[in-house]
Amino acid sequence: MAMPITSSVSTLVQSLGEIPPNSVIFGKSEAMQALRQRLDKVASANVPVLINGESGTGKDIIARMIHSHSPWRTGPYVKVNCPAIPGTLLESELFGYEKGAFTGAYGTKPGRVEMAHRGTLFLDEISELDMSLQSKLLQLLQDGQFCRIGAQEDKKVEVRIVCATNRLLEQEIENGTFRQDLYYRINVVNLHMPALRERRADIEDLANYFLEYYNRKFNCRARALSADLTGVLQKYHWPGNIRELENLIKRYVILGTEEVITTDLVAKEPEYFTPEINLDGPISLKKVTRQATRELERKIILKVLQAHHWNRKQAARTLSISYRALLYKIRDAGLPPNRTSRRRPEVVPSNGAAAD
Ligand SMILES: Nc1ncnc2c1ncn2[C@@H]1O[C@H](COP(=O)(O)OP(=O)(O)OP(=O)(O)O)[C@@H](O)[C@H]1O
Ligand SMILES: [Mg+2]
Repeated sequence: MAMPITSSVSTLVQSLGEIPPNSVIFGKSEAMQALRQRLDKVASANVPVLINGESGTGKDIIARMIHSHSPWRTGPYVKVNCPAIPGTLLESELFGYEKGAFTGAYGTKPGRVEMAHRGTLFLDEISELDMSLQSKLLQLLQDGQFCRIGAQEDKKVEVRIVCATNRLLEQEIENGTFRQDLYYRINVVNLHMPALRERRADIEDLANYFLEYYNRKFNCRARALSADLTGVLQKYHWPGNIRELENLIKRYVILGTEEVITTDLVAKEPEYFTPEINLDGPISLKKVTRQATRELERKIILKVLQAHHWNRKQAARTLSISYRALLYKIRDAGLPPNRTSRRRPEVVPSNGAAAD
């Protein structure tokens, strides 16, 4: 017989935390506007949602938004990070247990499924559930029932399930590691998070948002990014998506120099200065090559200056050019003229915050 759940355990119920304003979250790119419309429609309907997208694209934020727009928005929001809980513990974390269910089960413990009653259960990295847990989750999705470990009876919960993954679940199904029937149940509505490189129109606004946010948070006064650097951010391919951009700006705010960003990007992706070539129309080989050479030159000068602690005379010798020519190139490339002109944060954060 199914038993209604009356108890609510609040310790593991998560606070929704700080979410950037909608104008920042969705930006102005087409991909995000389409996502926003879809989100508006699904949030109010109590159906399971599967969010997929690369790491750092904002799946967590969107899951929280689904909850805060759902009919159960005043109910609990419970997140389970599946890979963070060892396989053997995951079943008891999710479904709870009865006293004596196994050695060490001295009392009864409700699982997170119960804690999410009349709220949202967010299962992050769903592909990490093993087959037996997938079966239990399927039962929960099919008839809203589950069984604590060691219990005689099923319990009934009303819960909205939101899952996220950065894997291709279709591939996992083909590999035999994910149940197809579960996939159909969790994927009633799919929200695909675009990668940052697919929404370049939003990069500048996101960077400015993080700049303002971390200036305020760390009580720093890092200046607006230069046009040159903004151009670089627009071109970079962002494998770590918004998280990578956020961390980069955080480092810039704390350390106070644009060099921090440039060096970081050059080290990660030496090819990122390669200009994008649009094959739809005629290409000016001369123009593209000139642009690429200029950018490559900037990169080399920056590295040599850093290696010589910004001693321009030594750098000029190493580069086999005259001192005057180096000064001209530094100015032309938009690099800072000397070490002292590189900005420092006005106030060093006192909370020990460090760059990632
Ligand atoms: N649209 C957005 N606007 C502003 N900040 C965002 C946005 N999306 C994500 N972020 C920020 O980027 C970081 C990564 O986001 P989030 O944790 O939601 O990504 P994720 O897709 O869940 O990544 P993972 O797959 O690694 O868990 C967070 O600090 C978040 O605040
Ligand atoms: Mg996440």
